[in-house]
Amino acid sequence: MLNALPPGPRQPRALQTVAWWTRPVSFLESNRRRYGKRFTMRLLQTPAFVMLSDPDEIREVFTAPPDVLHPGEGARILEPVVGRNSVILLDEGAHLEQRKLMLPAFHGERMQRLSGLMTEVAEREAAGWPRERPVELHPLLQGLTLEVILRAVFGLDPGARMDAIRERLTKILALGARPLGMLPFMQKDLGGRGPWAYFVRLREETDRLLFELIDERRADSAERDDVLAMLLAARHEDGSPMTDRELRDELMTLLVAGHETTASELAWAFERLLRAPAVMARLVDEVDSGDGDAYLTATIHEALRRRPVLPNAAPRLVKQPVTIGGFDYPEGVCLVPNAYLVHHDPALYPDPYAFRPERFLDEGPGTYTWIPFGGGRRRCLGASFALVEMKIVLRAVLAGNELSAPYAEHERSRRRAITLSPRRGATTVLRARPRVREEVPAAA
Ligand code: HEM
Repeated sequence: MLNALPPGPRQPRALQTVAWWTRPVSFLESNRRRYGKRFTMRLLQTPAFVMLSDPDEIREVFTAPPDVLHPGEGARILEPVVGRNSVILLDEGAHLEQRKLMLPAFHGERMQRLSGLMTEVAEREAAGWPRERPVELHPLLQGLTLEVILRAVFGLDPGARMDAIRERLTKILALGARPLGMLPFMQKDLGGRGPWAYFVRLREETDRLLFELIDERRADSAERDDVLAMLLAARHEDGSPMTDRELRDELMTLLVAGHETTASELAWAFERLLRAPAVMARLVDEVDSGDGDAYLTATIHEALRRRPVLPNAAPRLVKQPVTIGGFDYPEGVCLVPNAYLVHHDPALYPDPYAFRPERFLDEGPGTYTWIPFGGGRRRCLGASFALVEMKIVLRAVLAGNELSAPYAEHERSRRRAITLSPRRGATTVLRARPRVREEVPAAA
């Protein structure tokens, strides 16, 4: 049956796994050159991965019935952090139920209400960044996006509790960035010592702080705009509220899904802008003029096209045989819509390696040709959140600083856990410049 899968690289699994982890972009590109728009990769400890990059096939995957393809099953490695109620790990009815509870918190209108808070955090953080010497923006952006999640999603107010939670979450995320340590065979206590025992201790401390927060917020009737407040108000179909465990698991899910992704994508946006002076100049003009955000929006769409931080959508495990693009896929293989390959198809995007926001000025991105947020019923829940945050951060940084790159070469990709970020952290020299406009508009 496996012979029926699209052809792909024939190296041993171990070699393919190393190539996929250490140089994903060139591995994807060389496979496409050799095998075309769809090919099968074989990695250690995983079912066959069929990479897809034809928009029609991607549409079929995104719109397949929920009992045919299971993205949730493929994300099990995240369970120790996000917990078993996480929307990311579920499939079919259970997934739909959890997603419905969360959707209202992420509507565009809710995002606008959060934009004031995001602006405050972005302006304050960016004002404290080092100037006049090369700095890696990526870690600074990680700090910023973590702060945004803690305040806008967890609803924490600055103070001792926020600091205590931030400190533990930072350590948990650092462990997660070294995924080897989290593999099932490493999950041994070793008599209270070792990385797993350390992780479990941190998780228990964090959970205790989060359950305390949830208790307090349940009892408090003050109206708040944060995501936790929305989740506390959400009701299951039978009218019951989300349990403490569900709330905790979804908060951790939003942290894991929304923090590193947004920080890395922002790092790429700066890295690309620094190497496209005409784009940078046009964008700075728009920011200074205060006249709308059409070019800023197009720039962000282009950054997500050119450098999708998740090179592919969640792998969809085939649960029932399915035919897509003329291939019959048996149960047990994974179908993987690949954003990087779609976004660099010259038939869809002429001169695909050029950074050119103008592509998206007259026409917005296509549902199946621009897929940095995946698609269908699994599409990223935080897409509007991320887009609003990216606009606010880019504006806050560009309005107060002149940016230059200390070296001209493009930064290559580096993998951190599941995201791809610029290898040198988007190294930049910031120089303060007088603001042309006093107020950076909060509305994004
Ligand atoms: C630039 C930033 C981001 C990128 C590129 C991104 C990308 C993605 C992708 C590719 C998926 C998988 C979709 C699929 O397989 O069809 C996903 C899922 C998800 N993302 Fe994001 N994401 C970003 C930011 C965020 C933020 C800020 C949040 C929340 C605050 C978030 C929450 C989620 C959740 C909850 C899911 C799982 C949805 C489900 O399984 O139903 N993401 N994201």
